[in-house]
Amino acid sequence: MRTVAVIGAGQMGTGIAQTVAQNGMQVLLADVDLERAEAGKANIDKALGKLVGRGKLEIADAEALLGRITAVADYQPMADAELIIEAATEREEIKRSIFDAAGKVLGNDAIMASNTSSIPITRMANYSPDPKRFIGLHFFNPVPVMGLIEVIPGLATAQETTDRITAFAEGLGKQVVLSQDEPGFVVNRILLPMINEAIFVLGQSTANIEDIDKGCRLGLNHPMGPLELADFVGLDTCFEIIKVLYDTTGDSKYRPAPLLVKYVEAGWLGRKTGRGFYDYSGDAPVPTR
Ligand code: 3HC
Repeated sequence: MRTVAVIGAGQMGTGIAQTVAQNGMQVLLADVDLERAEAGKANIDKALGKLVGRGKLEIADAEALLGRITAVADYQPMADAELIIEAATEREEIKRSIFDAAGKVLGNDAIMASNTSSIPITRMANYSPDPKRFIGLHFFNPVPVMGLIEVIPGLATAQETTDRITAFAEGLGKQVVLSQDEPGFVVNRILLPMINEAIFVLGQSTANIEDIDKGCRLGLNHPMGPLELADFVGLDTCFEIIKVLYDTTGDSKYRPAPLLVKYVEAGWLGRKTGRGFYDYSGDAPVPTR
């Protein structure tokens, strides 16, 4: 592929844009307005600056990479993209309006993919002009670092679409896990009940934040404890995923922990708002309980 459009310039969208551009492709990065798309590009610039500072990337390569990313205000330029990746907020009505708008410019042979964490691909494919060319392409955060991409064909996805997207994902240097279109796919179906359970453990005062995370870091060899990871992913995103698992299966094992609901209602969404289970206002995160 030569040109890839990424819609959504948040944490995931910028990580995807950086990774795609790093592999030599042109990227069109869009958000609700040009200002937000430019802000996303500035965040990529900052991440590249850190890599340059640590001697992991040459300045010239960082500049060339950034030069391949164009912030765009509307969808018209995406008519030239072979692939459009939606990486917007995990809310179906937002994604639907994106597929409606992007569908109007989607090239005849182009693929539309969603980075959804949990919303059914088969259902969303119906919001696109051609469900045969619609697929789930689920990246992990931080995208430039994590080695996995889940590929999720919907019921109507053509085998050719799955093959092209698998080749694209492998071309980014990632390994692919193929998942059926079931709630949470493979990894989030396993991860989110763990995070949710950690929040129950905290809510029942079985242990404090620090010890829950320490327990999983040292006892399970996880790089981050589940509460740290929940803050990293975003508590609103965690809530949306566990809610999809609960709503689509009706299985009570997926009921959202009451403390998670409260934190989301309080607007304590983790790193991105400066407070979640940890307070991020100082130099180092401080547990809040
Ligand atoms: N671009 C390129 N490289 C980057 C980068 C970026 N934007 N950000 C970090 N890196 C590199 C660093 O250069 C460093 O490389 P090195 O090991 O060669 O020196 C490496 O990544 C690690 O970075 P740091 O040293 O800054 O930080 P840590 O060692 O503390 O690791 C972490 C940070 C990689 C985030 C690690 O804590 C981790 O793996 N955490 C778990 C992440 C995880 O589980 N993600 C999945 C979340 S679930 C998800 O995304 C699905 C969604 O649907 C919810």
